[in-house]
Amino acid sequence: MATMVIKSLIANLFLSLIIIQVSGCCHDCSFSKIIVGTERSGRNVEGIPEWNVSLINNCTCVQSQIKLACKGFQTLEPVDPSILSVEGDNCNLINGNPLQPFASVHFSYAWDPPFLLLPIHSVISDCS
Ligand SMILES: *[C@@H]1O[C@H](CO)[C@@H](O)[C@H](O)[C@H]1NC(C)=O
Ligand SMILES: *[C@@H]1O[C@H](CO)[C@@H](O)[C@H](O)[C@H]1NC(C)=O
Repeated sequence: MATMVIKSLIANLFLSLIIIQVSGCCHDCSFSKIIVGTERSGRNVEGIPEWNVSLINNCTCVQSQIKLACKGFQTLEPVDPSILSVEGDNCNLINGNPLQPFASVHFSYAWDPPFLLLPIHSVISDCS
């Protein structure tokens, strides 16, 4: 009888752990918490406006493998591929490396009109 009780206690414990993991428990973090800001830098490159982009991880978890939808992305000035690299219709941010909580990434590009850069994927870890 006692073993039965212990067994069901252990089963319940495992079940709650699974529920906590699935529901995410204590944080509310995803790629949608990456804030993208695009503003005119005030400069022109070969007569084409330059844009400053900043991306901020606005949550308490580390986000890696960040991908942005960036269909058709082009620029008249090169962007450091270790910051943004195009792969098909998507762009990889910082080579998939981790972006710490509340850390940001900045780059500039030149095109007219500017592109809509939309986070579509990340891997969440190390929530604080
Ligand atoms: C755009 O970025 C450049 C390079 O980081 C910086 O010098 C400039 O002040 C920025 N412009 C604006 C309007 O924030
Ligand atoms: C960043 O996240 C906080 C907490 O979720 C939220 O209140 C705030 O509006 C976010 N900032 C922006 C610029 O979206």
